[in-house]
Amino acid sequence: MDYEVVLPAAGSGKRMGAGQNKLFLSLGGKPILIHTLEVFQSDENCTGIWLAVKDEERQYIQQLLEKYGITKVKGLPNGGEERQHSVYACIKEMQQVDIVLVHDAARPFITKPIISRLVKEAYEKGAVIAGVKAKDTMKKVNDGVIVETVDRESLWMIQTPQAFRFDLLKQAEEAAEEVGFLGTDEAMLVERLNHQVYIVESTYENVKITTKEDLVFGEAILKHRNE
Ligand code: CTP
Ligand code: MG
Repeated sequence: MDYEVVLPAAGSGKRMGAGQNKLFLSLGGKPILIHTLEVFQSDENCTGIWLAVKDEERQYIQQLLEKYGITKVKGLPNGGEERQHSVYACIKEMQQVDIVLVHDAARPFITKPIISRLVKEAYEKGAVIAGVKAKDTMKKVNDGVIVETVDRESLWMIQTPQAFRFDLLKQAEEAAEEVGFLGTDEAMLVERLNHQVYIVESTYENVKITTKEDLVFGEAILKHRNE
C-alpha cells in the first residue's frame, strides 16, 4: 500500500541548545535526519518524501541527501514559523496521492511495521495516529496544586507518524489556515472537522529527540538494536 511522507525538518532545536538544527547532530555517527530518511528511503511502499527545510539549510541538506543516497525526495519547500506551517508548505506542493504520512524528522527510531499498520488503517479509516499508553500516574495541576488525578487508562502519549487520506488532511490544513487555528499535531486539525481519528499502538522507542538526554537514549536504542 503506497503512501508519500511529509517530514517537517525546519525547526531550530531550541530545547536541545546545540546552537544548530538538532537534526544535524550525530547518532551513531550519522545525522539524526538521515536515520529518519533512511527508514522511508528503504520502505518500498513509500513513493515520495517531502522535506520542509529552512532556506539557509537547503543546500547542506541536499548535500547530505546525495552523500547518503536518499533519492526519494520530491520537494524541499521552505518551512514556516510553526511546525504546522512547515507541514502545510509540503501539502500545498504535493500532487494528489491516496495516503500521506506526517512524521517528525526528529523521530529517527520509527519502524516499518508501525508505518505499514498506520498506512493500512488510514486506507480504511481516513485518519490514524501513532501513540503509546501513559506509564506514569497522571495529575492535573494548577498553580502547583493537584486539581485532579486523571484516569490513566484513557490517556495516550501521541507521537508521529500520523496518517491521513490526502484530501482529508489537505482540507483540514486549509480550514485551520483560514481561521489561524494552530494545533500541536495534524490530528487536531482533522478532529476540528469532526472526523474520527484512530490510534495505533506504537513503541516507547519512537522518541522525539528533543533535549540533550534524548541523545543518550538514542545512542542506547541504537546499541540495543545492534546487539
Ligand atoms: N519543525 C518544522 N518547522 C518548525 C518547527 C519544527 O519543520 N517551524 C520540525 C522540527 O524540525 C522537528 C519537528 O518539526 O523535526 C518536531 O519539532 P520539535 O521537536 O519541536 O523541533 P524544534 O522545533 O526544532 O525544537 P524546539 O521546539 O526545541 O525549538
Ligand atoms: Mg518546536
